[in-house]
Amino acid sequence: MKLCATSKMLTVCGLALGLMATGAAVAQQSGKDAAHDRHENFEKMGDAFEKLEKETKKKKPDNTVIQREVALISQLGKESVTWFPAGSGPGNGFKTESLAEVWTQPEAFKDLQDKFLAASAKLSDLAAANTVTHADVEHTGETCSECHKKFRKESSIFSIFGG
Ligand code: HEC
Repeated sequence: MKLCATSKMLTVCGLALGLMATGAAVAQQSGKDAAHDRHENFEKMGDAFEKLEKETKKKKPDNTVIQREVALISQLGKESVTWFPAGSGPGNGFKTESLAEVWTQPEAFKDLQDKFLAASAKLSDLAAANTVTHADVEHTGETCSECHKKFRKESSIFSIFGG
């Protein structure tokens, strides 16, 4: 590099390059951290959703359980809009199930986020009124799947072959 060609410049130059490298490492680390947290949070969302499905299938569903899981889904749902910072997608050197389209088609992604948030808000209203049915839960679930189909890596048996 021309900037670092003279020996006089070496110390300053080394320092500058060192800082640049540190900056890049921090940026990459935070993307990696964000992807990790996103994974953990979606797992929580999945657990809450499963519990909700199970409870609403029961003959005598316990509304305390329903309200608790709906509140968790609603809270995580609202937070989820912050789970996809730039640099946390595929191609950054760590594992993620998100597709690049999350970042290249932000409007389509936001549309599906909004659709899910609307369904989840409706679910919260129903939970407050003690009237959540299994069909309402499934309706919300469709908005999860809709986003997964478009923006999440397909998990199939082929994924064991690296797909
Ligand atoms: C707007 C898009 C969107 C919506 C809505 C959405 N998800 Fe996801 N979900 C994703 C993406 C993208 C991933 C992959 C995350 C990653 O690995 O980077 C994911 C991953 C997951 C995972 C697997 C954990 C992981 O990170 O691999 C579970 C479980 C999950 N979602 C459950 C749900 C449930 C349940 C709902 C609805 C209540 C939901 N999601 C709604 C986009 C969405």
